Amino acid sequence: MSHVRIDGLTKRFAGKPPAVAVDNLSLEIEPGEFIVLLGPSGCGKTTTLRCLAGLETPDEGRISLGDRTVLDLREKVDLPPNKRNIGMVFQSYALWPHMTVRRNIGYPLRTRRVPREEARVRIEEAALLVDCAALLDRYPAQLSGGQQQRVALARGLAARPDLVLFDEPLSNLDARLRDQVRAQLHELHARLGFTAVFVTHDQSEALALGDRLAIMKAGRIEQLDTPERVFEEPATEYVAGFIGMSNRIALRRAGEGWTVADGAAVTGDLPVPRAHAEVAVRLRPDDLLLRPAEEEPPAQGVGLAAEVVDAQFGGRHMDVVVTIADSRLHARAPLTGAPWARKLARGQRVTAWFAKDTALYYDADGVRTAAHAPAAVRA
Ligand SMILES: Nc1ncnc2c1ncn2[C@@H]1O[C@H](COP(=O)(O)OP(=O)(O)O)[C@@H](O)[C@H]1O
Ligand SMILES: [Mg+2]
Repeated sequence: MSHVRIDGLTKRFAGKPPAVAVDNLSLEIEPGEFIVLLGPSGCGKTTTLRCLAGLETPDEGRISLGDRTVLDLREKVDLPPNKRNIGMVFQSYALWPHMTVRRNIGYPLRTRRVPREEARVRIEEAALLVDCAALLDRYPAQLSGGQQQRVALARGLAARPDLVLFDEPLSNLDARLRDQVRAQLHELHARLGFTAVFVTHDQSEALALGDRLAIMKAGRIEQLDTPERVFEEPATEYVAGFIGMSNRIALRRAGEGWTVADGAAVTGDLPVPRAHAEVAVRLRPDDLLLRPAEEEPPAQGVGLAAEVVDAQFGGRHMDVVVTIADSRLHARAPLTGAPWARKLARGQRVTAWFAKDTALYYDADGVRTAAHAPAAVRA
């Protein structure tokens, strides 16, 4: 276990236009911490991992593992992958097809010249950890996808690396297996306490596994926080959108109240400081609720006139697509105690509403407004 420190990491790729894949990224990782890099395709997650592993030489930056500097471009230090003591688990399991499971798991031990007898013990330990002890003499082609990924996991851990890197290791598995391997990985980390950087574009994976999440945008970290804080308090609109607040409603101040884009008035005031004349509201689908058109929203609610585009049965609720002005939004209408919602149909007019406190408000630059400061501070 090591303290990991990344300072000013920058990687550019030549091309038209040139790409800044990683842009002056700095990050400190505590020993035993599980860090998740979360972001859309192309935001620089894989390149960051490859620079950590020594598979890519960055243009600028410094990386240390514990008290060892593995990269310092000013000092011309750039240790090769086999000198960094880092384990890797990739999306494509990348097992050697001509090697047995035993030899696959032992591969990083051979590159580190671990003595044969010690290697045997460590291979068996690692296989036991991931429930693959019975598979040691098989070849990868004789394993299911989930077994192959568990073997890849054992290989990543076998050398007891200072740091384990995961690049979307679950995305090639089907949904059921993905949940299984994810749960095993979470348990394994709790037991062994290795330091990890795990890359994904899947928000639920990130929330489940991370001690802290780094939400990445264009080669930079947009927010670094615990899963709870990222989920409840996304600092920017970009993070909010990425963490499931897919509904966006643009509102403009009009006198004492607010209107949507086409000028229709909104019922209820918003907890937004006077300084902002325009604001984007961000909401999760389950926080946008529906009522019959003739009904007002409840006291702490903000109501908007909406039209139903489509309604799907979701078990205990209906998943409803509505339009409000020009925006398509996703709402959820609970069925318990509201049988009217079962008959929601295209073209129907409804009142969409949200509770003032469940919505988050972002200014024209996409930065969260100070609305949710405690009441005492706001006054
Ligand atoms: N070998 C390469 N040559 C040129 N451009 C690259 C190369 N690898 C990555 N890039 C570019 O760098 C950016 C970040 O890529 P990547 O790190 O793979 O993102 P992610 O893993 O988040 O999807 C993208 O714009 C990608 O096109
Ligand atoms: Mg990638």
